[in-house]
Amino acid sequence: MTILKVDNLSKKFGGLNAVKNVSFSVGKGEILGLIGPNGAGKTTCFNMIAGVFSQSEGKIIFEGKEINGNPPYVLNNRGLARTFQIVKPLAKLSVFDNLMVACLSKSKNIKDARKKAKEVITKTNLEELKNTTAGSLSIGNLKRLEVARALATDPTLLLMDEPMGGLTPSEVDGSIQLIKDINKEGVTIVLVEHIMKAVMAVSDSIIVLQNGSLISKGEPNDVVNDKNVIKAYLGDEYVKS
Ligand SMILES: Nc1ncnc2c1ncn2[C@@H]1O[C@H](COP(=O)(O)OP(=O)(O)OP(=O)(O)O)[C@@H](O)[C@H]1O
Ligand SMILES: [Mg+2]
Repeated sequence: MTILKVDNLSKKFGGLNAVKNVSFSVGKGEILGLIGPNGAGKTTCFNMIAGVFSQSEGKIIFEGKEINGNPPYVLNNRGLARTFQIVKPLAKLSVFDNLMVACLSKSKNIKDARKKAKEVITKTNLEELKNTTAGSLSIGNLKRLEVARALATDPTLLLMDEPMGGLTPSEVDGSIQLIKDINKEGVTIVLVEHIMKAVMAVSDSIIVLQNGSLISKGEPNDVVNDKNVIKAYLGDEYVKS
């Protein structure tokens, strides 16, 4: 079953065609990797799907319904969550309170929110930092908090925008495991990430954007061996390694 279908999606910023006629779909329970060079239009796609930008053309269908024009909070209430490439914590609040705010967007009951916040904090391995002010966290923990805040809203579809940017190799391994665990619990994931080791470790399929256009899609091994993808993004070194 398809959970997300994007049909001929385009976004223009003035004279710049940031996303051009992009179509793809994501099956329920899958992990789709979305890759491509800097400026390819990956975050812009997420911003349209999550309701931050309206699209210039095309359709976005989430769980069988067109979601064009819905604001982010409405989409989030319907099960669509995202993490941000540039983390957006409530810097002066503790890790726990950041999660309480996210939980309270779903349930107005403090007891339920507290229960959910505790559950998410355990799942994301942030227990030891629960009383730490978010603004003083390392980038690795901020990225983890970003995922935790999205999970606190109980998503069925999670858009992750570079959750591993700036992480140490062991943090990357932890993040790969976290993505696998989240997916095992039934959450569909679209992952934008430049760390190919991670994309290859978790993705069921991959799509590639270049200059706003979709240049390849398919099974991970086929996509990374696609000459166009090697030329546009991965480079010959990737193939040799
Ligand atoms: N709000 C905006 N206004 C104008 N131009 C924008 C805006 N957001 C993005 N762009 C432009 O759209 C293009 C696509 O940007 P986008 O951020 O989607 O790329 P990306 O694939 O996410 O890149 P990266 O890997 O560096 O995060 C870029 O040329 C960018 O400068
Ligand atoms: Mg981006």
